[in-house]
Amino acid sequence: MIKNSDRLSLERLINAVAFSSETIDQTNNNDVINGLSKYPKSIAAKYFYDDRGSELFEQICELPEYYPTRTETTILEAYAPEMATITGSCELVELGSGSAIKTRILLDAYQKLKYPLRYIPIDISAGILETSAFELLNDYPTLEVHGLVGTYELALQRLNKFGINPMLKRMLVFLGSSLGNLNPQECDRFFEQITGALQAGDYFLLGIDLHKSKALLEPAYNDAQGVTAEFNLNMLRHLNYRFNGNFDLAKFKHQAIYNEYQRQIEMYLQSQVDQTVELRSLNLTIHLEAGEKILTEISRKFDLTQLEQDLKNKGLNPVKTWRDSHHWFGMILCQQIG
Ligand code: AVI
Repeated sequence: MIKNSDRLSLERLINAVAFSSETIDQTNNNDVINGLSKYPKSIAAKYFYDDRGSELFEQICELPEYYPTRTETTILEAYAPEMATITGSCELVELGSGSAIKTRILLDAYQKLKYPLRYIPIDISAGILETSAFELLNDYPTLEVHGLVGTYELALQRLNKFGINPMLKRMLVFLGSSLGNLNPQECDRFFEQITGALQAGDYFLLGIDLHKSKALLEPAYNDAQGVTAEFNLNMLRHLNYRFNGNFDLAKFKHQAIYNEYQRQIEMYLQSQVDQTVELRSLNLTIHLEAGEKILTEISRKFDLTQLEQDLKNKGLNPVKTWRDSHHWFGMILCQQIG
């Protein structure tokens, strides 16, 4: 636990090597071995997010083709005051807080209503979490921040053990449609962890990308400047660094397609040649044929009514839902059923 001032504390829940640049628990490498040993091959999406990957993701959010970030921002700008009025005073807990730019819109709304500001950002990247916490403390003189560095799973377990303040409700915020990066089984498990970290009457605010035409979706993941391609390929550089590997990035191509049947973007790295790659510190040698693809991410696109029903079945009662004018993106405010 690091205490930087009376208004800030940062707690590390993962065993990262260096506080500001390493982000993934070194002890759990089985996911890489399993993913690259099966057919079709895959790499867990968490390996996108080393420092360079986090930087590239911030750039993706600004791309003209990548509509989710700015669309969710317009919804927040229009409706954050209404959200704050519905929930009343509460502590904000944000999963995957990153640079916390959108969070400021919520903090502004709570500040306007003169509610005490307490923010619990959760992120796997200690560097980003620390930087954004300092910026927020500067800009919000009454804000208290208690940051948790770790995976969602660890952080939600930790939240469970925080003392419950009966005077202060909790609102768990999960923005950016990161829910879409979980498969249905992971999603079920995630909702169980969410309800485990909330009390009856607490809130869950969820931002989700909605199903839409391929013509809009595919360019968002195949941008003209090639930032998403670099983000995807950077994962191999990250694995090389972390596991003493020899992936040659020039021998792979980024590919993102919308699978209309599954309603998900699928991101792949496609091998351009027959090749053998080693990850020496994992004792792993893999063979790839020309054309063979490694799945690096799914990004599911949701049907609002269906998701509202799923949330209700999990004990999270949708109180109000908002959408942008194109109906590209949705935000659902749920309340934990007693
Ligand atoms: C973090 N997540 C919600 C992004 C998405 O749209 O699924 C990750 C991303 N991958 C490529 N572009 C953006």
